[in-house]
Amino acid sequence: MASEKRVAIVTGGASGIGFAFSSKLAESGYAVVIADLRGAQEAAAKIVEAGYDALGVTVDVTSEVDTTRMVDEATKAFGGLNVLVNNAGLFTTLTLKPVDQISAAEWMKVMEVNTLGPFLCIKAALPALRASGGGRIVNVASTSPIKGTPFMQHYTASKGAVIGFTRSLARELGNENITVNAIAPGFTLSEGVLSAGMEERMGESARRTSRSIQRDQVPSDLVGALVFLASDGAAFITGQTIAVDGGGVCL
Ligand SMILES: NC(=O)c1ccc[n+]([C@@H]2O[C@H](COP(=O)([O-])OP(=O)(O)OC[C@H]3O[C@@H](n4cnc5c(N)ncnc54)[C@H](O)[C@@H]3O)[C@@H](O)[C@H]2O)c1
Repeated sequence: MASEKRVAIVTGGASGIGFAFSSKLAESGYAVVIADLRGAQEAAAKIVEAGYDALGVTVDVTSEVDTTRMVDEATKAFGGLNVLVNNAGLFTTLTLKPVDQISAAEWMKVMEVNTLGPFLCIKAALPALRASGGGRIVNVASTSPIKGTPFMQHYTASKGAVIGFTRSLARELGNENITVNAIAPGFTLSEGVLSAGMEERMGESARRTSRSIQRDQVPSDLVGALVFLASDGAAFITGQTIAVDGGGVCL
C-alpha cells in the first residue's frame, strides 16, 4: 500500500544522533517511527508536541520478533514505509581497550547490535518498502574503519561490515527502486558521548585537529546528509558511504 505522507523508521532514534535524525525528518514532512530499546515513546511525544507525526516503538534491533513488530506498527500507524534509517548501535557504552583485552563475548555483542541489527531491520522492512514501490535504506556507519582506529577493534570491524553490506545490498536491490547508502559520521558529541565523558578520552585529534574544519562535530551536522539521501534528488545514488566529518577523511 502506498502512503500519502512519506514514512521513515529511525532505529536508536530516541537519543543522540538518532533523535536529531528523527526530528529533522519530521520537520521535513515525514511521519517518523522512533524505534529504540528505551525512551521511544517519550521521544516521539516530543516530536508530536512540536506538531509533527511520530510514533514510538520499543524495539531491540537484535530481536527478529521486535523488528517485525516495528515494521507492522509503522505500516499500521502511517499506511506504508519509505525510509529505513539503521542508526542504533553500540558505541558510547564501549571503553577503549587493546585488542587482546576484548573478550569474545564483548566482540559478539558489538557485532550483534551493529551488524545483525541492521540486517534484521532491513529484512523486516523490505516487504513494506517494496509495497511502497521502492524506498531508501540509510545505514549509519562510521569513519573509524576508513581511518583505522586503535583500541576499538570490534567497533571498527562492525562498521566496516556495515559499509560492505551497504555496497553489496545496493547491487541486490537497485532494480527494485530501493537505494542503500551509508553515512559515516566522525566523532560526534552526541548525548551518549557526553554522558559517558568520551570526549575527554578520545582527545583533541579525534575531536578537532584531524578535521579540515577544525571544530567539534554535533548531531545536527549529520542531518542534511540524511535528508538528501532520503530525497528524490538522491534517487540515482546508491551503494555509497558519505563521510560527514568536517573533512577528517577524504574519500
Ligand atoms: N557519536 C559518535 O561519535 C559516532 C561516530 C560515528 C558513528 N556513530 C554511530 O552513530 C549511531 C548513533 O550514535 P550516538 O552517539 O547517537 O549513540 P548513543 O549511544 O547516544 O545512541 C544510540 C541509540 O541506540 C539505541 N540502541 C542501542 N542498542 C539498541 C538496540 N539493541 N536496539 C534498539 N536501540 C538500541 C540506544 O538506546 C540509543 O538511543 C551509532 O550507530 C554509532 O555507532 C557515532
